[in-house]
Amino acid sequence: MKVDGRHFRSIWRGTDGWSVSAIDQRRLPHEFVIARLTNCVEAAEAIRSMLVRGAPLIGATAAYGMALAMKDDRSDAGVDRAYQMLIATRPTAINLKWALDEMRRMLRPLAPSARSDAAYARADDIAEEDVGINRGIAENGLALIEAIAAAKPGETVNVLTHCNAGWLATVDWGTATAPIYLAHDRGIKVHVWVDETRPRNQGASLTAWELGHHGVPHTVIPDNTGGHLMQHGKVDLAIVGTDRVAANGDVCNKIGTYLKALAAHDNGVPFYVALPSPTIDFTVADGITQIPIEQRGAEEVTHMTGRTPDGRIETVRIVPEGSPVANYAFDVTPARLVTGLITERGVLKADRASLAAAFPERIATAAE
Ligand code: MRU
Repeated sequence: MKVDGRHFRSIWRGTDGWSVSAIDQRRLPHEFVIARLTNCVEAAEAIRSMLVRGAPLIGATAAYGMALAMKDDRSDAGVDRAYQMLIATRPTAINLKWALDEMRRMLRPLAPSARSDAAYARADDIAEEDVGINRGIAENGLALIEAIAAAKPGETVNVLTHCNAGWLATVDWGTATAPIYLAHDRGIKVHVWVDETRPRNQGASLTAWELGHHGVPHTVIPDNTGGHLMQHGKVDLAIVGTDRVAANGDVCNKIGTYLKALAAHDNGVPFYVALPSPTIDFTVADGITQIPIEQRGAEEVTHMTGRTPDGRIETVRIVPEGSPVANYAFDVTPARLVTGLITERGVLKADRASLAAAFPERIATAAE
């Protein structure tokens, strides 16, 4: 996707051929800064600190983290150490484990001398595959938007999204945003309601930034606005991303997604989830009881950061000193509230049979 006319991905290999560059998402929307990752420790810290975030990008960064590790220590112990360091960064997005398993499975049988080149090549492939997958999601989701546009000729299609499942959360295109970008590029009038997504505001700071730079009309709304808009016919469909889809079709995504799904259900608004196949976890039978929910620091809730009128970036406290705080980063939307799963292999029902029929090879790797 483009930033001021120049094409960017969220992560790429540096011109030196070995370091890894990524957009520092902690600094957006106020500053556009490229970070350089030079070893596995820095890659792990980039994921943990949310310099990079979003399930598919976490996976791609972890793959590059393994490649950076192989540059420094190609031994069996080095493979295991890097795997353990990276897997410990964030618990919910299954793309992290998927990418690390892919890398370890490929690296272990190789002679140590071959591991560095092979790791970079596979990490490049994982990044490239993500772009291709998201392009498939774009095409499959576009049909849903086209159908709504055809039913209200000349009118704007209003899509609600939560958090950032945009190109910044992936390597390019995004998942939830992929059909939106394609619809916009093909001349369909589309407008996006962007949930601000407290406490870290990925919607307000990242999704709005992305959509604005691509010229997609959008409106940022406080998180609690969606139900009201749906009651008044101002949302044609919701499309969100996900960090992990259980075998039964339950969807784990950014905290607050469940409430949007409930409101959509009550108002007859289609609620779609866009996902790349590495986000499916066939080892989890029931999403609500089995997906680990990350709990993050209180300061994300007690404080807010923004730009002052004179251009300084300042952090201020908004909660009284001493008030206890809970910060659950994700929730699970039961499959029954999901209208469909937009994947690279089509729009599926959110149930085990449909997921298993579309992605049988993922069942096989889950059983390993
Ligand atoms: O905590 P984050 O910002 O990593 O959470 C991101 C989300 O919840 C996204 O919706 C999800 O990872 C899908 S990204 C295509």
